Amino acid sequence: MGFEQAWLTYTKKTDYSDAGEIRIIYADVKDELVRNSVSELQRALKAFYGKEPILQPDSENKNNGSGKIESIRLVLSEGRKAEGYLLTGKNGEIIIEASDSKGILYGVFDLIRRMQREEPLENLEVLKEPGMPLRMLNHWDNMDGSIERGYSGESFFFKNNEVLVDDRTVTYARLMASIGINGVVINNVNVKDSATYLITDRYSDKLKAMSEIFGGYGIKLFLSLNYAAPVELGELDGADPLSEEVRRWWKDRMKIVFDAIPNLGGFLIKADSEGRPGPFTYGRTHADGANMLAEAVRPYGGLIIWRCFVYNCRQDWRDRKTDRARSGYDNFIGLDGQFHDNVILQIKNGPMDFQVREPVHPLFGALMKTNQMLEVQAAQEYTGQQRHVCYLIPMFKEVLSFRTYMQKEMDTVGDIVSGKAFHQKNCGMAAVANTGNDENWTGHDLAAANLYGFGRLAFEPELSAEEIAGEWIRITYGRDEQTERTLLFILMNSWPAYEKYTSPLGIGWMVNPGFHYGPNVDGYEYDRWGTYHRADHLGIGVDRSHEGTGYALLYHEPNASAYDDKEKCPEELLLFFHHIPYTWQLKTGKTVIQHIYDTHFEGVEIVDEMVSRFEKLHGKLPEKVYERVTARLAHQKEHSREWRDQINSYFYRKSGIPDEKGRKIY
Ligand code: GCU
Repeated sequence: MGFEQAWLTYTKKTDYSDAGEIRIIYADVKDELVRNSVSELQRALKAFYGKEPILQPDSENKNNGSGKIESIRLVLSEGRKAEGYLLTGKNGEIIIEASDSKGILYGVFDLIRRMQREEPLENLEVLKEPGMPLRMLNHWDNMDGSIERGYSGESFFFKNNEVLVDDRTVTYARLMASIGINGVVINNVNVKDSATYLITDRYSDKLKAMSEIFGGYGIKLFLSLNYAAPVELGELDGADPLSEEVRRWWKDRMKIVFDAIPNLGGFLIKADSEGRPGPFTYGRTHADGANMLAEAVRPYGGLIIWRCFVYNCRQDWRDRKTDRARSGYDNFIGLDGQFHDNVILQIKNGPMDFQVREPVHPLFGALMKTNQMLEVQAAQEYTGQQRHVCYLIPMFKEVLSFRTYMQKEMDTVGDIVSGKAFHQKNCGMAAVANTGNDENWTGHDLAAANLYGFGRLAFEPELSAEEIAGEWIRITYGRDEQTERTLLFILMNSWPAYEKYTSPLGIGWMVNPGFHYGPNVDGYEYDRWGTYHRADHLGIGVDRSHEGTGYALLYHEPNASAYDDKEKCPEELLLFFHHIPYTWQLKTGKTVIQHIYDTHFEGVEIVDEMVSRFEKLHGKLPEKVYERVTARLAHQKEHSREWRDQINSYFYRKSGIPDEKGRKIY
């Protein structure tokens, strides 16, 4: 399938129409990143100014002071932080200075962004250093071309059990580099069948080629690994991490892999989770498993990223003591400090599974001596599957700014994953990618804001969600006040709206089992997955206080006491932590049941408003984009009503309490 250039679509800038010649001056090093930086600038300048810039490797610069940009100079010099850059503009000369070529590349993309937005470049002085060391995407792509939780077509990395390397690979790398992504896992965490063979010579040529393209844009290739590979490749009988034979096997295997694919960053592992193999089979711990692999990749500077999404997925809904929310914490807390320094634990933002609202995962702030990565989901598995618009950057920001109180200061999740809290360098943030081979990459055109936004947020966590959205709108659709205002309204209201018309007050789920789309209040109520709402005719919610599962007490004070107490609990999480009567009065003065009704009507009203505002953009956006978004918004409008009516009817029928405002409930 063909593909568009997303936010790297460049158009002529009328402001630049009277510009003279522009020279690009750079040290003629044999560095591919510098070469790519120059060609990115060339491409952009040609589009913005309508003429080719002049390339001047290693030359002196003499500007004639015309007051316009005459030259752009790329300078590698000592003294800047890794991947950081200084961007200055003075007397017609723009200088991008960095201590490594990645910094040059990021500086170039920063400059291009400013030019896309037609910002003034004179008297510019911007110093940027990335806010976290690892900024990764996790693709859940399968080798047959399907994507687990993919809503944008098929994979562009795999097809028919082959690895794809083509023009799209290059554009992908450019897009990712432009937002600061420096690591990419290309295959699904559930590693099965052919994917187990990604560490054999069957695929190494293609993977090497891909990793080299990535390398030219400052991106390391990572793979998801099958913990039981020695067994499933038919070479050993077991995968006990303490067995000498198994350890030797991994060392030999990693030598082969890294020799064949030198730009490999390491591996992501889902072990002992949802049916995937792991060290538990051998009575060993996750530290045993992770450390065995860490030793095997250490000689090549490799990283082992080990996921904490480990829980019992064969629960009994009758059992009220086992709490899935506790499981990540309970499985890993005893292992703090036992992992090698090239192991990183990757922790989902919440303790359950990417619901529209969850508390922050209690492992953040509990682990003090372990490298940590935050995992978020840009793929909208539970947030409308890229048929509904749901801009998730405000949620990611809330997670990053959450205070854990594990120490007096530098205690937020952002402080932990940036490396500031514990002075770590192996840490950062990963997003489950929302891409596929659809022309526009993300299915919903507005879902590109999540992809773009994730990268920008990981690079500059201090940016607000609104700033990021504004930036994305401007560079993607150009400078038009109404477009900007409208899309900003839609994006910024989309997560709150989605939260309002779906499951209430932090309880989550209520979706159709399996594919997780559309309302089904009891869909997961009598199932084995540990995902219950416990509604009866009097109330709803899971008691996770000290009287219930005790989950609330896994946090530091004052969070623990707040979550534990119905009166103090943040209301957006009330039903996550407590079983509450429908007649319970919230701080707004409304009862829980009235709150459910009101928010569901409100959510739909916001969607209606989005639709009517979007209609007015006809003629302002590319026709294709306008049509695609219009079709999805029409579906969202209808589907949000389905959510509203099913949820409201369910609770009306359970509680027998009518809506105070007498609106239609079925
Ligand atoms: C969710 C998702 C699965 C995925 C899992 C994971 O449960 O539905 O498809 O494999 O998360 O994160 O490993």
